[in-house]
Amino acid sequence: PKQMIWGKAPFYNWEGFWCSPSMVKNILAFQSHFKARSDDIILASFPKTGTTWLKAICVSIFECKSKGDHDHVAHGGGGDQTDELSKKNPHSCVLTIEHEIYGKDDSSPDDILSGMPSPRLLHTHLPYSFLPDTIKKSNCKIIYITRNPKDTLVSFWHFMISLWGPYPFEKAYDEFLKGVIHYGPHIDHVLEYWFEQLKMSEKILFLKYEELKKDPKGQVKKLALFMGRPLNEVEAEQVLWKSSLDRLKNLEVNKTGAISDFKVLKNSFFRLGVVGDWKNYFTEEMERNLDEVTRAKLEGSGFDFDA
Ligand code: A3P
Repeated sequence: PKQMIWGKAPFYNWEGFWCSPSMVKNILAFQSHFKARSDDIILASFPKTGTTWLKAICVSIFECKSKGDHDHVAHGGGGDQTDELSKKNPHSCVLTIEHEIYGKDDSSPDDILSGMPSPRLLHTHLPYSFLPDTIKKSNCKIIYITRNPKDTLVSFWHFMISLWGPYPFEKAYDEFLKGVIHYGPHIDHVLEYWFEQLKMSEKILFLKYEELKKDPKGQVKKLALFMGRPLNEVEAEQVLWKSSLDRLKNLEVNKTGAISDFKVLKNSFFRLGVVGDWKNYFTEEMERNLDEVTRAKLEGSGFDFDA
């Protein structure tokens, strides 16, 4: 189908991906007006795959390398509360282009973008095929994060509940299996970035949420190197501490209020942050069927999810 109801809203299938009608306008404006700078760093993700964490890590890397983190290092980490993340939610530090720039009625997207000092850190949830040529053809870099489909769904379901109230898990599961979810199907989204990254490894870095959990320091160092801002051990530890779920979740700035005028509560971005929470929600049949769809789609791609 080209159109259906998802949750409580109408939904369109546009060039193979699902989105709400209100997003179409924003995406078209992004595609026709955005101008990439060669030193932009664009974070990209399917929703609920670690966007907030990636934003927080990159903000901390930038901060650490631009201002020097000597004070923080001297204090040994722990108590410092003067960094950008202590004052602003990660989503206010790194704006999602199609929501917080082209989705606002009260300000001019071009003014917001041209007023940002270089190098800019920006984010998008759009699939690779939807990105404007200015991003694809400039020297700007893209950092993509992904997460296994089962945890992504469970995280998305909790997020839906925080937006809409009670929602049956079975319904969310059936929709996810059919790919009917914002910017879904999830696996198609992942594969687009995966294949592009194989062709352009200097332009696109591909990360997995599970690898970040397993080897945070190694992954953060790899990420920082890709951003042209290599970190030493102490700096990597600082970045990890600043961007940690425990810390962010308990910061006053993330406890109350919504993300700009987008009606999503700030605290809904911080939940459990573990690998394998899906085991608490999936029946064996659900696991089998989603694994089967995943296997079929990934066949021959050279890509596999962790966990
Ligand atoms: P769970 O719902 O499984 O806990 P996104 O940021 O893309 O919306 O993804 C949200 C998921 O990332 C949530 O997963 C959330 O708890 C987790 N998350 C948010 N901040 C995190 C952080 N700093 N470290 C690890 N996980 C984090």
